[in-house]
Amino acid sequence: MENKSILLDILNHVKNETDISKFLFSSKASRASLDADNDVSVKPIKNISELSIEDVINANLGIDFCLKTLQSNDFNGLDEYKMTACLFKWCIKITMLYLSQILPIKPTSYNENTFKTLFLDSALDNEYENMMTFSTNIVENEHNLSSDEVNAKYSKSEIRKKARNVLTNIKNKLLTIDNANDVELSLPAIDAIQCPIYISINMKSQMEKVVNQIVPDKILVISDTDVCKHYDLACMINSFVKDSNCEIFEYIVENSNKKTPSQMLDALMFAEEKRLTKASLIIIFGGGSVGSIGGMVAKLYFRGIKFIYVPTTLLSQIDCAIGCKHSVNGHFGKNKFGVYHLPEAVIINPLFIGTLSVDHKKSGLSEALKYGLCQSKTLMSKVINYNYTCFNIISIMDIITETIKCKLEYMKEDPYASSPELHMEFGHKIAHALEFLSEESMPHGICVAFGMVAEAKLFSIRFGEASDAISMVSYITDAVKKVVSNLELSCAYTSNEIADAVLYDNKRRKDAIPFIRLVSEQNPSVEWIAEDDVLMRQLEESIAFARECFS
Ligand SMILES: NC(=O)c1ccc[n+]([C@@H]2O[C@H](COP(=O)([O-])OP(=O)(O)OC[C@H]3O[C@@H](n4cnc5c(N)ncnc54)[C@H](O)[C@@H]3O)[C@@H](O)[C@H]2O)c1
Ligand SMILES: [Zn+2]
Repeated sequence: MENKSILLDILNHVKNETDISKFLFSSKASRASLDADNDVSVKPIKNISELSIEDVINANLGIDFCLKTLQSNDFNGLDEYKMTACLFKWCIKITMLYLSQILPIKPTSYNENTFKTLFLDSALDNEYENMMTFSTNIVENEHNLSSDEVNAKYSKSEIRKKARNVLTNIKNKLLTIDNANDVELSLPAIDAIQCPIYISINMKSQMEKVVNQIVPDKILVISDTDVCKHYDLACMINSFVKDSNCEIFEYIVENSNKKTPSQMLDALMFAEEKRLTKASLIIIFGGGSVGSIGGMVAKLYFRGIKFIYVPTTLLSQIDCAIGCKHSVNGHFGKNKFGVYHLPEAVIINPLFIGTLSVDHKKSGLSEALKYGLCQSKTLMSKVINYNYTCFNIISIMDIITETIKCKLEYMKEDPYASSPELHMEFGHKIAHALEFLSEESMPHGICVAFGMVAEAKLFSIRFGEASDAISMVSYITDAVKKVVSNLELSCAYTSNEIADAVLYDNKRRKDAIPFIRLVSEQNPSVEWIAEDDVLMRQLEESIAFARECFS
């Protein structure tokens, strides 16, 4: 029986997981996979560098098959535990290899833990860890145990169930990646200069195209410490840059969320030290904080050199990277010093979101919710229904695309996004005050979530709510609470301190501040409110209300 001989063949080569992958990828080997009729087919194994998504999916099906066949007890004498353990590890390994071809995963982070954070639904964390411990024990440590001893230690059906759950999750993700279509949008041209926005799972080929079109003499990647824990973009660039004389440097900002002028100056001095020229390219690789610092550096160096932005947080993918504004903070408030500078391209890969902290996922979703509340009911419901514990690539790509489209709609009228009357500023007066007081330790979008509730309350205090209309305070609060629940919004500052900090808003004019009011669903407008004692009292009351809502 052919199936049996394939399995026996594999098992004969199973010494450890490295051996099996070597065997499975060796030119003379074959491996099992399911064809359309659910029969096993045997395919020649390709070179690892040619590994395609189909290979990985087939491999997973192959594992499914192995588990199923072994379960039927046809293979007396085969070491089912060992087989399961090896195939499980092998499957994770080749999926990881595939991911490393489409994401700049740092070689030293190329391990089972990164795989879990990056790719697996958090609901399956325990099952994955159990399977990993089991597989490692079986392959490495427990091969001397007799089969009775192994049987007594592990339940076959439990092991099979866990392996199946995890592998099915991986298989489904790979299938969704395979089905995700690339999206190309573009920023409104400034001085006839265009900036494409690519949203793509396969960022490497996009980067390669853009960088090799520019043909820079030197490349400076600006990133930050947390991003560099997981990724190494310079390494990826090195693999495709055509000009062998092109030098690649990396500048890593520490505590990038502070966005201080001195951090920006240090990065500028580094660029000078490395003798970047007018023909050099800066690649910003990180969230909105690195984006702000890097954008300033690109504009100030020689009065402006080319840059590409590869945003890695959800917030930066939907908002910070979509535009040409860059700024750093002053002593008395956020974004006090800034410039306008359009990138050559923005390259967005939703897979980066896999390693983001839950707080920063919620932060990005809150900012997307703001666009939904102001502009699009469809987007609003997509955001509210998004389950961030299951990393659904298609849904997140859809939310990213829809949110960017909303922002671009605005920018048609105001390409610099500089008007103080922008509804994009909804919730942001109080958000910026909170962010600044917390020394940027509270994520931007979480502050926006708080700000939207508090500012809605401010308007209901000032104008009341029409009795026949939906209460905007409830409408906004209910939506926000679905994205950011309870405790994350608690903050240590008094309502008075926050209200005070609002007065430093950088869009205020002649003692009045432009607040955005959601008059009705998806209908925002601007209200200039005079800075007086009444406003202070009302702000304090609104902030206390928001705090109460989330306590
Ligand atoms: N220019 C604009 O239009 C604009 C718009 C909105 C916000 N902003 C600014 O952006 C800043 C906030 O940006 P942010 O929310 O992206 O936060 P951030 O850049 O501070 O990043 C948050 C944290 O996540 C880490 N990180 C980034 N990507 C990661 C990844 N893929 N995996 C794991 N960790 C990762 C970062 O290192 C950092 O520790 C604020 O200063 C805000 O004012 C600017
Ligand atoms: Zn914002």
